[in-house]
Amino acid sequence: MRAVQKHPTVITLEPLFKFTHKRMCQTPREKLVHLCDQSRGPSLLSRIVHDTTPVLAGKSLDRMNRQMLQQLLPLIDDMGNYETIDLNAWLRHAITIVSTNVTYGNLNPFQNRHVEDTFWELERNVALLLTNIVPWLIAPKTWKARKCLCAAFKDYFDLTGYEDGSDLLAMRYRSFLRAGLTHKEIAYAEVPLIVGLLTNTVPAAFWVHFELFSRPKLLEEIRGEVEQNALDIAPDGTHIIDLGYLRDDCPLLLSMYQEVLRIRTTMVTIRFVTQDVVLADNYFLRSGAMLFMPAKQLGRHQSAWGTSADEFDGRRFLRSTTTIDDNGDKKKGPRRTGGFMAFGVSPTICPGRHFSTSEILALVAMIALRYDIAPVDRLWHAPLRVNSATTSNMGPVEGRFPVTVKKRQKYEGKPWQFKTTDGKGQFGLAVG
Ligand code: HEM
Repeated sequence: MRAVQKHPTVITLEPLFKFTHKRMCQTPREKLVHLCDQSRGPSLLSRIVHDTTPVLAGKSLDRMNRQMLQQLLPLIDDMGNYETIDLNAWLRHAITIVSTNVTYGNLNPFQNRHVEDTFWELERNVALLLTNIVPWLIAPKTWKARKCLCAAFKDYFDLTGYEDGSDLLAMRYRSFLRAGLTHKEIAYAEVPLIVGLLTNTVPAAFWVHFELFSRPKLLEEIRGEVEQNALDIAPDGTHIIDLGYLRDDCPLLLSMYQEVLRIRTTMVTIRFVTQDVVLADNYFLRSGAMLFMPAKQLGRHQSAWGTSADEFDGRRFLRSTTTIDDNGDKKKGPRRTGGFMAFGVSPTICPGRHFSTSEILALVAMIALRYDIAPVDRLWHAPLRVNSATTSNMGPVEGRFPVTVKKRQKYEGKPWQFKTTDGKGQFGLAVG
C-alpha cells in the first residue's frame, strides 16, 4: 500500500471518473471528451471531485451539520411511538431523507417517497450499469429506475431547486453547467454523488447500531461517556446533545465507530496504472494495468492490528494505549491506523467522512440514551448482506431487521435537542 502511495500521479483513479461518467451518467461523447481533457492539467472531472473537499468542510459543513441535526431530531422523537420497527428500513429512510434534504434543499426530489424507493431499486444493481453488456437488457429495472430518478432531478434543476441547496450541490451544478451540460445531463451526472452520499452511510449506521446494542457492557460504557461528556440539561429540563462534545470528548464512541467500519468494510480500492512503474524495487506494473487493494483483508491484517485483528475491540482506536513493559513500567503506545481503509487510501480520502460521521454518531448517541433496542426474538444474529451488484463498501443488509423499541425510564417524557458549535465539525478519524 505504501509503495502505491509513492506514485500518486502514475497510479491513479482518474480513468475511473471517465468510465463512471460514460456508463453510469451516460454523458454524451463530445462532452465527456471535454470533461476528461488533460491537455492543460487535471481534467474538469477530477477538479470537480477535488473541489468536493472544501464544500464538505468548514462553514459549508457547519451549515450541513446544523440542518442535519435539526432534521434528525423529529425522526428520533417519533421512534418512541412504535413498539417495534424494522431497524434496517428505519435507518435507511432517516438517513436518506435527512442527507438529501441537507444536500438538495426545499425542492429535494427525495421528498417524494416514490423517488426514494426508486433510488434504492437503482442502488441494488447499480454496478450492472457499469458493464458494457447491454445493461438495459440484463438490468431493465435498474435502467428504468435511473431514468425515473434522473427525470425527477431534471425537474428539480429546471425549477432552480439548487438555489437553496448545499454548497456541495451549488459547486457541482455550476461546474457542470459551465462545462456545457444540459439540465438532463447534470441530472444524470448527479447519480454518483447520490450513491456516495447514501450507499455507505446507511449500512454503516446499521452496523454501528447492531454492534453497539448487541454488546450490553460497551453500550453502558458509551451511554455513560455521552451522558458525562456530551449531554447538557438546560434549566427548562431540555436534554441537549452537543455534536462538538461527541467529537472532542467521547473517544470511546468514536473508537467503537471506527472499529465497526474496520470490521464491516468490504472496500476494494481500485487504481489504474497510467505508466510503466516498479513498486518497492520489486514489482513491475505495466501501463494500463488495474490494481486492486482489498481494504477488508488489509483492515484485518495481524501486522497492523496484532493478534486480535479478527476480533471486535471497541477500544482499538483510542488515541493511545497504555501497556506495561517487561520492567513493569507503564508505556504509552500510539494509536494504530495503518491498514484502516474504510474511508479510502491517501491521497484519495472520502471527503464526506466528517458529514457521515456526524450523522451516524448523533443518531446512535441519542438513540442509545433514549431507547433500548433488541431484536424481536432477542437474538443478535447478524442479518444477511445484499448479494447483488451494489457499489456500497459497507455490506448493506438484505431485508428486514425487526427490533423492539422501549423508551428508557430514566429519560421518559424529557424534551430533547441537538446542538452544534460551528468550526467543530471535523473528526480525528484514522485514514490509511
Ligand atoms: C460511512 C460513510 C462513508 C464511507 C464508508 C465512504 C467511503 C469512501 C471511500 C472508501 C472512498 C474512496 C474510494 C476510492 O478510493 O476509490 C470514498 C470516496 C468518496 N466519497 Fe465517501 N464514504 C462515506 C460517505 C460519504 C458521503 C456522505 C459523501 C458525500 C457527501 C461521500 C462522498 C465521496 C466522494 C465524492 C468520494 C470520491 C473522492 C475522490 O475520488 O477523491 N462519501 N468514500
